[in-house]
Amino acid sequence: MKKTRVKLGNRSYEIRICRDRIGLLGKAIKQLEIGSDAVIITNPSIKKFFGARVKRSLLSAGFNVRFETVPDSEKAKSEKHCIRLLNNISRSDGLGRRVFIVALGGGVIGDLAGFVASIYKRGVPYVQVPTTLLAQVDSSIGGKVAIDLNIGKNLAGSFYQPRLVYSDISFLKKLPEKALVSGLAEVIKYGIIKSPALFSFIRSDLKKILRRCPGTLERVVYKCGSIKARVVEKDELDNKDTRIILNFGHTVGHAIETAAGYGKAYDHGQAIALGMLAASFISMKLSLLAKADYLKIKALIKDSGLPTVLKGVSVKDIMLAQGHDKKFICGKNRFVLPVRIGKTVIKEDIPESLIRESIKSLLWT
Ligand SMILES: NC(=O)c1ccc[n+]([C@@H]2O[C@H](COP(=O)([O-])OP(=O)(O)OC[C@H]3O[C@@H](n4cnc5c(N)ncnc54)[C@H](O)[C@@H]3O)[C@@H](O)[C@H]2O)c1
Ligand SMILES: [Zn+2]
Repeated sequence: MKKTRVKLGNRSYEIRICRDRIGLLGKAIKQLEIGSDAVIITNPSIKKFFGARVKRSLLSAGFNVRFETVPDSEKAKSEKHCIRLLNNISRSDGLGRRVFIVALGGGVIGDLAGFVASIYKRGVPYVQVPTTLLAQVDSSIGGKVAIDLNIGKNLAGSFYQPRLVYSDISFLKKLPEKALVSGLAEVIKYGIIKSPALFSFIRSDLKKILRRCPGTLERVVYKCGSIKARVVEKDELDNKDTRIILNFGHTVGHAIETAAGYGKAYDHGQAIALGMLAASFISMKLSLLAKADYLKIKALIKDSGLPTVLKGVSVKDIMLAQGHDKKFICGKNRFVLPVRIGKTVIKEDIPESLIRESIKSLLWT
């Protein structure tokens, strides 16, 4: 078991990274003294894989346990499912009960369940039990919780920190190949923005990561979790120009996701991989990033099985979607640009023509 802590005063919490320790989840939550009734928010397939073990663990720690399921897709991060969950939770909540929420799933479940926890009765405690690589290294940490609106992703949300992040590597055994590779995009992101050592490690141990060697994955999840924890500690509310580095690749990436229709042509990690390439291209064109580093980034993305070529979405639609993005503040755009592996700068007002050129560069093989 590896541990790191997100230090945020009275909102501090532990990130636990373990292997085959689902049975100890109940005990870990018990120590937090956060309530009596666990509502596990998950989807049917995750419930089928892990629901019984998680339930048993919580029951044996003395909790009342019930499940709330939502459909298995980004569609679950919607007003409809959010309100349905709130109503269902309130119906079974009663005098003398202290409800807390367990988010059992990937980033979709984590974002939705965390958002529900943040608004039910103006906030009840929740625990993140991430089951995808992306959720273990990224979305479960840092308290950004949200649902999507028709016009764009994550537009209704809040900052609401979990009380514990419990990442069991054994969850990843059943993860579809595509989802594993999608999570790798965020892992590569951490290497590019903060850690040349992580970047080299991914390059050298890529086969072991793709084969899901537990020791290698544990190391990766721990390293990424620690990087994210340190960034979040410095800028919990994303208003000090620190946390923004986590958005590397997400400006164009989110626009690709929106233009493609969430999850249809590209999932989050695939879109972010293309977004990282676009941002690296801009950086290279501005003479901030050496071509050799751009090519290293491109090669690692490709070797990981992530896309490096844009298909099935038009440049025009991506540019249009960009206009709605939160990161285009007050008409000004802001990009996180790598200057070398492990270091980035923030640049505002990148000319529209250069953004367009960077997206067009994704059409090349
Ligand atoms: N809050 C944040 O800081 C943050 C950061 C990054 C991404 N996100 C959000 O995360 C979401 C994407 O998350 P994701 O990539 O985890 O996708 P996801 O939650 O949709 O999960 C991917 C698929 O894997 C399945 N699955 C999950 N765990 C499994 C397991 N262990 N075995 C087998 N199947 C499993 C899910 O049912 C789903 O079909 C997006 O909505 C994105 O906006 C949030
Ligand atoms: Zn992301």
